[in-house]
Amino acid sequence: MPETHTDFAGRIAAEAYWEDDTLADPAWRKVFDAVPRSAFAPDDWFEWNGYGWDARHRADNEQDWDEAVHAVTQPFITQVGDDNMPTCSLSAPMLVAAMLGTLDLDDGMRVFESGTGTGWTAALMAARVGPAGLVVTVEYDPELAGIAVENWHSSGVWDGLALVAFVGDGESGRPALAPFDRVSATHSVRRIPAAWIAQTRPGGLVCAPLKIGQPDLDLYVQLRVGEDGTAEGRVRFPVDFMASRTSRPPAPAKQAEDEKRCSVTDWNLPAVVAAKEAWPSRIAVPGLNVTGPLVEDGDDCMWLSLPDGSWAVAYVPQGAPWKDATVEQHGPQDVWSLAEDAWARWEAADRPGINEYGLSVGRDETHTLWCRTPDNVVAVLN
Ligand SMILES: C[S@@+](CC[C@H](N)C(=O)[O-])C[C@H]1O[C@@H](n2cnc3c(N)ncnc32)[C@H](O)[C@@H]1O
Repeated sequence: MPETHTDFAGRIAAEAYWEDDTLADPAWRKVFDAVPRSAFAPDDWFEWNGYGWDARHRADNEQDWDEAVHAVTQPFITQVGDDNMPTCSLSAPMLVAAMLGTLDLDDGMRVFESGTGTGWTAALMAARVGPAGLVVTVEYDPELAGIAVENWHSSGVWDGLALVAFVGDGESGRPALAPFDRVSATHSVRRIPAAWIAQTRPGGLVCAPLKIGQPDLDLYVQLRVGEDGTAEGRVRFPVDFMASRTSRPPAPAKQAEDEKRCSVTDWNLPAVVAAKEAWPSRIAVPGLNVTGPLVEDGDDCMWLSLPDGSWAVAYVPQGAPWKDATVEQHGPQDVWSLAEDAWARWEAADRPGINEYGLSVGRDETHTLWCRTPDNVVAVLN
Protein backbone atom coordinates (compact mmCIF):
# COMPACT_ATOMS: atom_id res chain seq x y z
CA MET A 1 0.00 0.00 0.00
CA PRO A 2 1.49 3.41 -0.87
CA GLU A 3 2.51 5.31 2.25
CA THR A 4 0.72 8.49 3.25
CA HIS A 5 2.56 11.74 2.83
CA THR A 6 2.60 12.20 6.60
CA ASP A 7 4.64 8.99 6.94
CA PHE A 8 7.06 10.49 4.42
CA ALA A 9 7.60 13.63 6.51
CA GLY A 10 8.12 11.43 9.56
CA ARG A 11 10.78 9.41 7.78
CA ILE A 12 12.58 12.59 6.71
CA ALA A 13 12.53 13.76 10.34
CA ALA A 14 13.91 10.40 11.47
CA GLU A 15 16.79 10.59 8.98
CA ALA A 16 17.77 14.10 10.19
CA TYR A 17 20.71 15.02 7.97
CA TRP A 18 23.51 16.39 10.15
CA GLU A 19 21.21 16.19 13.20
CA ASP A 20 18.76 18.54 11.54
CA ASP A 21 15.52 19.10 13.46
CA THR A 22 13.59 21.20 10.92
CA LEU A 23 10.69 18.76 10.84
CA ALA A 24 10.32 18.91 14.61
CA ASP A 25 8.81 22.35 13.92
CA PRO A 26 5.02 21.92 13.40
CA ALA A 27 5.00 24.74 10.82
CA TRP A 28 7.46 22.86 8.61
CA ARG A 29 5.73 19.53 9.23
CA LYS A 30 2.51 21.08 7.95
CA VAL A 31 4.29 22.45 4.88
CA PHE A 32 5.92 19.12 3.97
CA ASP A 33 2.51 17.46 4.28
CA ALA A 34 0.82 20.10 2.12
CA VAL A 35 3.41 20.13 -0.68
CA PRO A 36 4.01 16.53 -1.74
CA ARG A 37 7.29 15.75 -3.51
CA SER A 38 5.40 13.42 -5.85
CA ALA A 39 3.59 16.42 -7.39
CA PHE A 40 6.98 17.73 -8.61
CA ALA A 41 8.45 14.45 -9.86
CA PRO A 42 8.20 13.94 -13.63
CA ASP A 43 7.23 10.55 -15.04
CA ASP A 44 10.70 10.18 -16.61
CA TRP A 45 13.70 10.02 -14.33
CA PHE A 46 17.24 8.59 -14.17
CA GLU A 47 18.88 5.96 -11.98
CA TRP A 48 22.56 5.12 -11.50
CA ASN A 49 23.50 1.65 -12.75
CA GLY A 50 27.07 1.69 -11.43
CA TYR A 51 28.51 3.05 -14.71
CA GLY A 52 26.03 5.59 -16.04
CA TRP A 53 22.49 6.88 -15.78
CA ASP A 54 19.58 4.72 -16.97
CA ALA A 55 16.46 6.49 -18.21
CA ARG A 56 13.42 5.17 -16.33
CA HIS A 57 9.74 5.65 -17.13
CA ARG A 58 6.87 5.61 -14.68
CA ALA A 59 4.62 3.81 -17.14
CA ASP A 60 7.03 0.84 -17.15
CA ASN A 61 7.10 0.44 -13.39
CA GLU A 62 4.85 2.53 -11.18
CA GLN A 63 6.21 1.00 -7.98
CA ASP A 64 9.85 1.88 -8.79
CA TRP A 65 8.79 5.47 -9.51
CA ASP A 66 6.86 5.65 -6.23
CA GLU A 67 9.82 4.26 -4.27
CA ALA A 68 12.26 6.67 -5.93
CA VAL A 69 10.00 9.64 -5.21
CA HIS A 70 9.62 8.66 -1.55
CA ALA A 71 13.26 7.78 -0.85
CA VAL A 72 14.20 10.26 1.85
CA THR A 73 17.98 10.03 1.52
CA GLN A 74 18.27 10.11 -2.29
CA PRO A 75 17.87 12.77 -4.95
CA PHE A 76 15.39 12.00 -7.74
CA ILE A 77 17.36 12.75 -10.89
CA THR A 78 15.23 14.54 -13.47
CA GLN A 79 17.79 15.63 -16.08
CA VAL A 80 21.20 14.36 -17.23
CA GLY A 81 23.50 16.49 -19.40
CA ASP A 82 25.59 15.64 -22.46
CA ASP A 83 28.57 14.78 -20.24
CA ASN A 84 26.43 12.14 -18.49
CA MET A 85 26.31 14.19 -15.29
CA PRO A 86 23.01 15.08 -13.63
CA THR A 87 21.91 18.65 -14.27
CA CYS A 88 18.64 18.64 -12.32
CA SER A 89 17.09 16.68 -9.49
CA LEU A 90 14.57 16.87 -6.75
CA SER A 91 17.16 17.11 -4.00
CA ALA A 92 17.23 14.42 -1.31
CA PRO A 93 14.35 15.17 1.10
CA MET A 94 16.49 14.94 4.26
CA LEU A 95 18.87 17.48 2.73
CA VAL A 96 16.02 19.74 1.61
CA ALA A 97 14.72 19.78 5.19
CA ALA A 98 18.17 20.66 6.54
CA MET A 99 18.67 23.41 3.94
CA LEU A 100 15.25 24.94 4.51
CA GLY A 101 15.83 24.82 8.27
CA THR A 102 18.98 26.94 7.97
CA LEU A 103 16.94 29.65 6.24
CA ASP A 104 15.04 30.30 9.48
CA LEU A 105 11.95 31.35 7.52
CA ASP A 106 8.98 33.12 9.02
CA ASP A 107 5.56 34.27 7.84
CA GLY A 108 5.66 37.15 5.39
CA MET A 109 9.34 36.86 4.40
CA ARG A 110 10.64 37.63 0.90
CA VAL A 111 12.88 34.84 -0.38
CA PHE A 112 15.07 34.56 -3.44
CA GLU A 113 15.98 31.08 -4.73
CA SER A 114 18.53 30.19 -7.38
CA GLY A 115 17.84 26.81 -9.02
CA THR A 116 14.08 26.24 -9.36
CA GLY A 117 14.37 22.78 -10.92
CA THR A 118 10.86 21.32 -11.10
CA GLY A 119 9.65 23.68 -8.38
CA TRP A 120 9.45 21.63 -5.17
CA THR A 121 11.70 23.65 -2.85
CA ALA A 122 10.25 26.97 -4.05
CA ALA A 123 6.74 25.66 -3.34
CA LEU A 124 7.79 24.46 0.13
CA MET A 125 9.26 27.88 0.95
CA ALA A 126 6.20 29.71 -0.43
CA ALA A 127 3.93 27.58 1.74
CA ARG A 128 6.15 28.36 4.76
CA VAL A 129 6.23 32.17 4.31
CA GLY A 130 2.50 32.17 3.52
CA PRO A 131 0.35 34.53 1.44
CA ALA A 132 1.98 37.64 2.93
CA GLY A 133 5.42 36.48 1.82
CA LEU A 134 7.04 36.15 -1.59
CA VAL A 135 9.29 33.56 -3.23
CA VAL A 136 11.18 34.60 -6.35
CA THR A 137 13.01 31.72 -8.02
CA VAL A 138 15.30 31.71 -11.06
CA GLU A 139 16.08 28.68 -13.23
CA TYR A 140 18.74 28.59 -15.90
CA ASP A 141 16.96 26.00 -18.05
CA PRO A 142 13.75 27.42 -19.61
CA GLU A 143 12.18 23.99 -20.01
CA LEU A 144 12.58 23.26 -16.30
CA ALA A 145 11.17 26.67 -15.35
CA GLY A 146 8.10 25.89 -17.45
CA ILE A 147 7.69 22.50 -15.76
CA ALA A 148 7.94 24.15 -12.33
CA VAL A 149 5.16 26.60 -13.16
CA GLU A 150 2.96 23.79 -14.48
CA ASN A 151 3.61 21.79 -11.30
CA TRP A 152 2.65 24.72 -9.05
CA HIS A 153 -0.52 25.09 -11.05
CA SER A 154 -1.52 21.42 -11.26
CA SER A 155 -0.70 20.67 -7.61
CA GLY A 156 -2.81 23.58 -6.43
CA VAL A 157 0.02 25.03 -4.27
CA TRP A 158 -0.03 28.22 -6.31
CA ASP A 159 -3.47 29.22 -5.03
CA GLY A 160 -3.07 32.17 -2.72
CA LEU A 161 0.74 32.05 -2.58
CA ALA A 162 3.13 34.63 -4.03
CA LEU A 163 5.51 32.47 -6.03
CA VAL A 164 7.18 33.60 -9.26
CA ALA A 165 9.71 31.96 -11.57
CA PHE A 166 12.13 33.57 -14.00
CA VAL A 167 14.50 32.10 -16.54
CA GLY A 168 18.11 33.22 -16.31
CA ASP A 169 21.25 33.13 -14.24
CA GLY A 170 20.28 32.93 -10.60
CA GLU A 171 23.74 34.20 -9.63
CA SER A 172 22.54 37.67 -10.69
CA GLY A 173 19.66 37.59 -8.23
CA ARG A 174 16.60 39.64 -9.15
CA PRO A 175 17.42 43.27 -8.32
CA ALA A 176 14.00 44.60 -9.34
CA LEU A 177 12.35 42.50 -6.61
CA ALA A 178 14.98 43.06 -3.90
CA PRO A 179 15.54 43.42 -1.03
CA PHE A 180 15.07 39.86 0.16
CA ASP A 181 15.07 38.53 3.70
CA ARG A 182 16.63 35.27 2.57
CA VAL A 183 18.63 33.91 -0.38
CA SER A 184 18.78 30.16 -0.95
CA ALA A 185 20.69 28.24 -3.62
CA THR A 186 19.97 24.67 -4.66
CA HIS A 187 23.16 24.42 -6.75
CA SER A 188 26.70 25.01 -5.58
CA VAL A 189 28.61 28.20 -6.30
CA ARG A 190 32.34 28.80 -6.50
CA ARG A 191 31.94 32.18 -4.77
CA ILE A 192 28.95 33.73 -3.02
CA PRO A 193 27.71 36.07 -5.77
CA ALA A 194 27.98 39.73 -4.81
CA ALA A 195 24.43 40.23 -6.13
CA TRP A 196 23.03 37.91 -3.46
CA ILE A 197 24.61 39.89 -0.64
CA ALA A 198 23.67 43.24 -2.20
CA GLN A 199 20.04 42.13 -2.64
CA THR A 200 19.63 40.84 0.93
CA ARG A 201 18.55 43.30 3.60
CA PRO A 202 21.02 43.86 6.45
CA GLY A 203 20.40 41.13 9.02
CA GLY A 204 19.06 38.76 6.34
CA LEU A 205 20.57 35.37 5.49
CA VAL A 206 22.31 33.96 2.42
CA CYS A 207 22.44 30.15 2.52
CA ALA A 208 24.26 28.23 -0.20
CA PRO A 209 26.59 25.30 -0.97
CA LEU A 210 30.10 26.69 -1.56
CA LYS A 211 32.15 24.41 -3.81
CA ILE A 212 35.52 23.90 -2.22
CA GLY A 213 37.09 20.98 -4.07
CA GLN A 214 36.63 17.98 -6.28
CA PRO A 215 35.15 15.50 -5.92
CA ASP A 216 32.09 16.07 -3.82
CA LEU A 217 32.93 18.69 -1.26
CA ASP A 218 30.65 21.69 -0.89
CA LEU A 219 30.34 23.59 2.37
CA TYR A 220 26.74 24.59 3.03
CA VAL A 221 27.17 28.04 4.57
CA GLN A 222 24.65 30.21 6.43
CA LEU A 223 25.80 33.84 6.19
CA ARG A 224 24.29 36.85 7.87
CA VAL A 225 24.46 40.04 5.81
CA GLY A 226 25.89 43.09 7.62
CA GLU A 227 24.99 46.77 7.37
CA ASP A 228 28.20 47.35 5.43
CA GLY A 229 27.57 44.92 2.57
CA THR A 230 29.68 42.10 4.04
CA ALA A 231 28.39 38.65 4.99
CA GLU A 232 29.63 36.21 7.61
CA GLY A 233 28.57 32.93 9.17
CA ARG A 234 29.23 29.29 9.83
CA VAL A 235 29.44 26.16 7.79
CA ARG A 236 26.33 24.15 8.67
CA PHE A 237 27.14 20.84 6.95
CA PRO A 238 29.07 19.31 4.06
CA VAL A 239 27.12 18.49 0.88
CA ASP A 240 27.70 17.49 -2.73
CA PHE A 241 25.54 19.63 -4.98
CA MET A 242 25.17 20.14 -8.70
CA ALA A 243 27.42 22.97 -9.76
CA SER A 244 26.08 26.30 -10.97
CA ARG A 245 25.61 26.24 -14.71
CA THR A 246 27.22 29.66 -14.98
CA SER A 247 30.28 29.43 -12.76
CA ARG A 248 32.29 26.51 -14.01
CA PRO A 249 35.82 26.18 -12.63
CA PRO A 250 38.51 28.03 -14.54
CA ALA A 251 40.47 25.72 -16.83
CA PRO A 252 43.36 24.42 -14.72
CA ALA A 253 46.85 25.47 -15.69
CA LYS A 254 48.84 22.90 -17.64
CA GLN A 255 50.33 20.40 -15.22
CA ALA A 256 53.91 21.27 -14.41
CA GLU A 257 56.59 19.10 -16.01
CA ASP A 258 59.42 20.20 -13.76
CA GLU A 259 61.69 17.82 -11.93
CA LYS A 260 59.89 15.70 -9.38
CA ARG A 261 60.50 16.18 -5.67
CA CYS A 262 60.36 12.75 -3.99
CA SER A 263 59.64 11.86 -0.39
CA VAL A 264 58.13 9.09 1.69
CA THR A 265 55.03 9.74 3.75
CA ASP A 266 53.92 8.06 6.95
CA TRP A 267 50.32 9.32 6.65
CA ASN A 268 47.31 7.19 5.79
CA LEU A 269 46.77 9.13 2.57
CA PRO A 270 43.24 8.08 1.57
CA ALA A 271 41.97 9.01 5.05
CA VAL A 272 43.66 12.41 4.87
CA VAL A 273 42.51 13.48 1.43
CA ALA A 274 40.16 11.03 -0.29
CA ALA A 275 37.60 9.86 2.26
CA LYS A 276 34.35 11.76 2.90
CA GLU A 277 35.80 12.52 6.33
CA ALA A 278 38.83 14.19 4.74
CA TRP A 279 37.22 17.64 4.75
CA PRO A 280 39.70 19.08 7.33
CA SER A 281 42.57 18.99 4.86
CA ARG A 282 40.41 19.93 1.90
CA ILE A 283 38.89 23.04 3.53
CA ALA A 284 42.38 24.35 4.13
CA VAL A 285 43.54 23.66 0.56
CA PRO A 286 40.78 25.14 -1.60
CA GLY A 287 40.62 23.88 -5.15
CA LEU A 288 42.22 20.56 -4.22
CA ASN A 289 41.35 17.91 -6.78
CA VAL A 290 41.66 14.31 -5.58
CA THR A 291 41.65 11.22 -7.79
CA GLY A 292 41.94 7.74 -6.39
CA PRO A 293 42.87 5.47 -4.86
CA LEU A 294 43.33 3.74 -8.26
CA VAL A 295 45.32 0.70 -9.30
CA GLU A 296 47.92 1.53 -11.96
CA ASP A 297 50.71 -0.78 -13.17
CA GLY A 298 50.48 -2.94 -10.04
CA ASP A 299 50.54 0.01 -7.64
CA ASP A 300 47.83 1.65 -5.55
CA CYS A 301 48.00 5.34 -6.52
CA MET A 302 46.45 8.60 -5.52
CA TRP A 303 46.66 11.80 -7.51
CA LEU A 304 46.28 15.34 -6.23
CA SER A 305 46.27 18.57 -8.19
CA LEU A 306 45.63 22.28 -7.82
CA PRO A 307 44.34 24.73 -10.42
CA ASP A 308 47.79 26.38 -10.62
CA GLY A 309 49.29 23.27 -12.29
CA SER A 310 50.77 21.76 -9.11
CA TRP A 311 50.27 18.02 -8.91
CA ALA A 312 51.48 15.00 -7.01
CA VAL A 313 51.16 11.25 -7.05
CA ALA A 314 51.63 8.80 -4.20
CA TYR A 315 51.96 5.07 -4.66
CA VAL A 316 52.55 1.81 -2.84
CA PRO A 317 52.70 -1.74 -4.24
CA GLN A 318 49.12 -2.91 -4.66
CA GLY A 319 47.61 -4.01 -1.33
CA ALA A 320 50.53 -2.70 0.77
CA PRO A 321 49.72 -0.30 3.62
CA TRP A 322 49.72 3.36 2.59
CA LYS A 323 52.21 4.11 5.32
CA ASP A 324 55.58 4.52 3.63
CA ALA A 325 54.03 5.47 0.29
CA THR A 326 56.36 7.18 -2.16
CA VAL A 327 55.23 10.70 -3.02
CA GLU A 328 56.28 12.66 -6.12
CA GLN A 329 55.43 16.35 -6.21
CA HIS A 330 55.59 18.78 -9.13
CA GLY A 331 54.84 22.39 -9.88
CA PRO A 332 54.76 25.63 -7.94
CA GLN A 333 53.34 24.12 -4.73
CA ASP A 334 53.94 20.84 -2.89
CA VAL A 335 50.35 19.80 -2.92
CA TRP A 336 50.69 16.62 -0.82
CA SER A 337 52.61 18.54 1.80
CA LEU A 338 49.92 21.23 1.89
CA ALA A 339 47.22 18.61 2.52
CA GLU A 340 49.26 16.81 5.17
CA ASP A 341 50.17 20.07 6.96
CA ALA A 342 46.51 21.09 6.94
CA TRP A 343 45.55 17.78 8.53
CA ALA A 344 48.28 18.13 11.15
CA ARG A 345 47.08 21.67 12.02
CA TRP A 346 43.52 20.36 12.37
CA GLU A 347 44.71 17.63 14.75
CA ALA A 348 46.79 20.13 16.73
CA ALA A 349 43.68 22.33 17.08
CA ASP A 350 41.82 19.42 18.79
CA ARG A 351 40.00 18.34 15.63
CA PRO A 352 37.37 21.10 15.33
CA GLY A 353 34.02 20.03 13.88
CA ILE A 354 32.90 21.28 10.49
CA ASN A 355 30.37 23.61 12.21
CA GLU A 356 33.27 25.38 13.87
CA TYR A 357 34.43 26.65 10.50
CA GLY A 358 33.04 29.81 9.00
CA LEU A 359 33.18 32.10 6.00
CA SER A 360 33.50 35.88 5.79
CA VAL A 361 32.81 37.64 2.50
CA GLY A 362 34.28 41.14 2.39
CA ARG A 363 33.02 44.17 0.50
CA ASP A 364 35.78 43.48 -2.01
CA GLU A 365 34.34 39.94 -2.41
CA THR A 366 37.32 38.30 -0.69
CA HIS A 367 36.21 34.95 0.72
CA THR A 368 38.00 34.02 3.94
CA LEU A 369 37.51 30.63 5.55
CA TRP A 370 38.23 30.55 9.28
CA CYS A 371 38.03 28.21 12.24
CA ARG A 372 36.25 29.09 15.49
CA THR A 373 36.77 32.86 15.16
CA PRO A 374 37.08 35.03 12.05
CA ASP A 375 40.63 36.03 12.93
CA ASN A 376 41.81 32.41 12.83
CA VAL A 377 42.12 32.24 9.04
CA VAL A 378 42.34 28.81 7.42
CA ALA A 379 42.28 29.77 3.73
CA VAL A 380 41.50 32.68 1.45
CA LEU A 381 39.67 31.98 -1.80
CA ASN A 382 40.86 34.34 -4.50
C1 LIG B 1 19.34 20.28 -7.48
S1 LIG B 1 18.47 21.04 -8.76
C2 LIG B 1 17.08 21.87 -8.10
C3 LIG B 1 16.47 21.43 -6.82
C4 LIG B 1 15.10 21.95 -6.69
N1 LIG B 1 14.97 23.31 -6.33
C5 LIG B 1 14.21 21.04 -5.87
O1 LIG B 1 13.07 21.37 -5.85
O2 LIG B 1 14.65 20.04 -5.30
C6 LIG B 1 19.51 22.43 -9.17
C7 LIG B 1 18.92 23.33 -10.21
O3 LIG B 1 19.72 24.49 -10.29
C8 LIG B 1 19.69 24.93 -11.64
N2 LIG B 1 20.82 25.84 -11.84
C9 LIG B 1 22.14 25.55 -11.88
N3 LIG B 1 22.85 26.66 -12.04
C10 LIG B 1 21.99 27.69 -12.10
C11 LIG B 1 22.13 29.11 -12.24
N4 LIG B 1 23.34 29.67 -12.34
N5 LIG B 1 21.02 29.86 -12.26
C12 LIG B 1 19.79 29.31 -12.13
N6 LIG B 1 19.59 27.98 -12.01
C13 LIG B 1 20.67 27.18 -11.97
C14 LIG B 1 19.76 23.63 -12.43
O4 LIG B 1 19.32 23.83 -13.75
C15 LIG B 1 18.85 22.74 -11.60
O5 LIG B 1 17.54 22.81 -12.06
